[in-house]
Amino acid sequence: MDYRRKHKISVYLTEEQLNKRIAEIGAEITERFRGESVYLVCILKGSIFFTTELAKRIELPMTIDFMSVSSYGASTHSGGVVNVKKDLEHSIEGENVIVVEDIIDSGNTLSRLMTLFSHRNPKTLTLCALLDKPARRTVEGIHVDFTGFRIPDKFVVGYGLDYDQRYRNLPYIGFIEDEEE
Ligand code: IMP
Ligand code: MG
Repeated sequence: MDYRRKHKISVYLTEEQLNKRIAEIGAEITERFRGESVYLVCILKGSIFFTTELAKRIELPMTIDFMSVSSYGASTHSGGVVNVKKDLEHSIEGENVIVVEDIIDSGNTLSRLMTLFSHRNPKTLTLCALLDKPARRTVEGIHVDFTGFRIPDKFVVGYGLDYDQRYRNLPYIGFIEDEEE
C-alpha cells in the first residue's frame, strides 16, 4: 500500500454536525452522572478526536485515560482474547467508567474489552460511540449507551478514523468513493 496515494472522499458528516451532536451527548452524560465524577477511557487511536471534543462538553470532575488493544482472530472467533498493547494508568475500581469508541462495527473487540473492564469492578460501566454500523454487528448483546450517529455499511474516514493510518486528521467524516492513482 502506497500511503501517499490519494482517494476521492465525499463529506458525510460535517465538523459542525459532529460537534453539535457531541455537545448533546456531553450534556446527556453531564445529566446522567450529576454530582459524581467520571472516568473516560479513550480507545486508541481512532477515538482521540471524539474523546477530546466530548471531554470538553462534560461538566463533571473527570479523569481521562487511554487504552490500546488488538484482537486475535477478530472476525472468525467469538471467544478470542484481547491483546492489551497499552493498559490504563489507574485502577477503575469504584469509578463511573465511560468507554469512548470511534465506531462499533462487528463489535468483536469491544465486547471483549467490556468484559475485561467489568472484571475490574467499576461502579458503573457505560459505552459511548461516535458512530454505529448496526448492519455489521456479529456479536450479540452489545448495548451502546450513547451513540452519535447510526451510519450505513460503508467505510468511513476522518475525525480520528483511518484508512491504512491515513485521513485521521480530516475535520469531517467522509466516505472513500474510489481510488485515484
Ligand atoms: P470491531 O467492532 O471489533 O469489528 O472493530 C471496530 C474497529 O474497526 C474500529 O475501532 C475501527 O478501528 C475499525 N473500523 C470499523 N469500521 C471502520 C470504518 O468504516 N472506518 C475506519 N475504521 C473502521
Ligand atoms: Mg479503532
